Amino acid sequence: MNVKTKTVYVCANCGDTSPKWSGKCNNCGEWNTLSEEVFSRSKKGSRMRSSADTRPVLLTEFDSETTQKISTNIGELDRVLGGGVVPGSVVLVAGDPGIGKSTLMLQMAAKVSNGIQGEIIYSAGEESGQQIKMRADRIGLNSSDILLLPENNIDIVLQYLYTKTNGLLIVDSIQTAYTDNLESFAGSVSQVRETAGMLLKMAKTTGNSVFIVGHITKEGSIAGPKMLEHTVDTVLYMEGEKLNSYRILRCIKNRYGATNEIGVFEMRDKGLVEVKNPSVFFLTGREEMVPGSVVVASMEGTRPILIEIQALVSRSSYGTPQRNTTGVDNRRLSMMIAVLEKRAGLMLGMSDVFVNLTGGLKISETSIDLGIVMAMASSFKDKPIDDGIVIIGEVGLGGEVRPVSFLSRRLKESYDLGFKHAVIPKTKKDAFKPPKGMRLTEVASVSEALTKVL
Ligand code: TYD
Ligand code: MG
Repeated sequence: MNVKTKTVYVCANCGDTSPKWSGKCNNCGEWNTLSEEVFSRSKKGSRMRSSADTRPVLLTEFDSETTQKISTNIGELDRVLGGGVVPGSVVLVAGDPGIGKSTLMLQMAAKVSNGIQGEIIYSAGEESGQQIKMRADRIGLNSSDILLLPENNIDIVLQYLYTKTNGLLIVDSIQTAYTDNLESFAGSVSQVRETAGMLLKMAKTTGNSVFIVGHITKEGSIAGPKMLEHTVDTVLYMEGEKLNSYRILRCIKNRYGATNEIGVFEMRDKGLVEVKNPSVFFLTGREEMVPGSVVVASMEGTRPILIEIQALVSRSSYGTPQRNTTGVDNRRLSMMIAVLEKRAGLMLGMSDVFVNLTGGLKISETSIDLGIVMAMASSFKDKPIDDGIVIIGEVGLGGEVRPVSFLSRRLKESYDLGFKHAVIPKTKKDAFKPPKGMRLTEVASVSEALTKVL
């Protein structure tokens, strides 16, 4: 057989290749991510194509009508997908091992059935058919429409899929998939990239949709899903903490819809259960009138979510004070501490500061700035903030409180959940519509907020 072999060094983070090893990847700048791979490609599988295969087509000849999205019948999943599954699209579902990716995929396979015209195929490389059936039974799923293909060899999976159209393929997982085109082992960077590319090509030609499960792995010889983000149409990350039952599905890339939409689930003994009202979920168990605790209203995609911020400010017993956050950006916290010192005269510089978003949700939206500031100030002064208050506002370096988008929606959600008093940025009267009866405290600066609320 005519086989060409060469040795290359591949970055496990970005997939860049280089002929020589170096400690730092030239492309993405990560350290110690390059590993040696023997790369070979038989002539048979090579990409030699004649120019007759491809020629330019007038743009006007394309159909711009958006294809109908197929509902998965799981509302929270549809939400992050931007309405449902687009036929012929490729979705990457990434997350830590054991977080619930296979469970979600199995539930989707069972629920989506009436929408998919073709076959629903679960290509399982990690678990046996028996294990999957046991799980389906335990969750109480109707698995009668699911076809199981216990195969790691993508060539064989694709051979079958190329004879089908408009179906759904789940590949669980990309790290166990391999193609005979390459000699490297399953899970290596080149295998992950090549098999994903082959799946994408199949999806585009046959109209079968593909969900690829990818484990997030520590850098090293095993390739992570990061590298695939460019290849696929949609990227979903499943987040959560092992000790916590909630699971967040976050869309970070979507060729067919908006990103930054999140879906919320709870992992129960009967599988993943949708959390239709995340605010209620995130606020349960909140203790009343505790210093350092405030409630903020963040927009996650199109949905306002109320969540508690807890801060603990205490005298540092070491030289360098600690700064620790869960769910909030660390740099943002440092900035808020600096603002409190400079603009409001609250000297936190020598204190340890811990800030948590309860439930473990991660929020990068700046509308929670004022909440972070108020939580820290409340803990610093050891004075609770009234627990019927919701705090909304972005904070600038000058200590000014800036207007936020979707104020009306945030206020409505807050009011509906029993927060009858809101601290908000000074906003033009005609720019928003507060719920009738809601008390509003408009503030222009951090120090004004401190005087009025604490
Ligand atoms: P799984 O879907 O196998 O994770 P992944 O595919 O991302 O590796 O989920 C495994 C975990 O979920 C496992 O720790 C058990 C838990 N689980 C439940 O709590 N309830 C259930 O009904 C199922 C199916 C799993
Ligand atoms: Mg799994």
